[in-house]
Amino acid sequence: MIAKKVLLVGNFGVGKTSLIRRFVLNQFSEDYISTIGVRVSSKIVQFEKQEIKLLIWDVAGTSGDEKIPKAYFLGASAAMFVFDLSREETYLSIENHLESIRNLSSLKEVTIVGNKKDLLTKEELDAVIKTVSVKIDLITSAKEDDNVESAFLQLASQAIK
Ligand code: GTP
Repeated sequence: MIAKKVLLVGNFGVGKTSLIRRFVLNQFSEDYISTIGVRVSSKIVQFEKQEIKLLIWDVAGTSGDEKIPKAYFLGASAAMFVFDLSREETYLSIENHLESIRNLSSLKEVTIVGNKKDLLTKEELDAVIKTVSVKIDLITSAKEDDNVESAFLQLASQAIK
């Protein structure tokens, strides 16, 4: 079986840990315990008849221009940028964030995920999609288990490219 390191990055409190928790354990908690440093979980996924062991690095959230330590990206095959659909500050400078991640990691593509869909009405969601200056790959809710598996499968597909 092949093992691939993948990373989740994004601002504080956007739901990185919650997405991983939903994907790996099928659990959700309203409690917010901020990640310190990095935490690694793993799950085996089936993708195009291949078994892939995803080593999922949950990186502590950043704010503003704060950089993710470059060492976290060593050996990473794919990365997911998570933002919070209900908090503008987590997606307003998304292009800068993505540029910085591409530079640090040398990854060409980054999977872009807008989380906490459950907090928005359809109209609000449409407005956010219009505002975000890049193509959003997946809209998820870790709380309601909406699109979470698809987000990680997309990450796995990028990891084996
Ligand atoms: P850092 O570790 O600080 O970077 O945060 P994080 O990105 O890992 O966020 P975390 O998963 O800890 O979630 C932050 C808060 O948002 C928690 O209170 C979660 O319960 C809540 N949350 C996460 N995902 C969702 C979601 O899809 N919907 C709703 N309503 N709340 C969510």
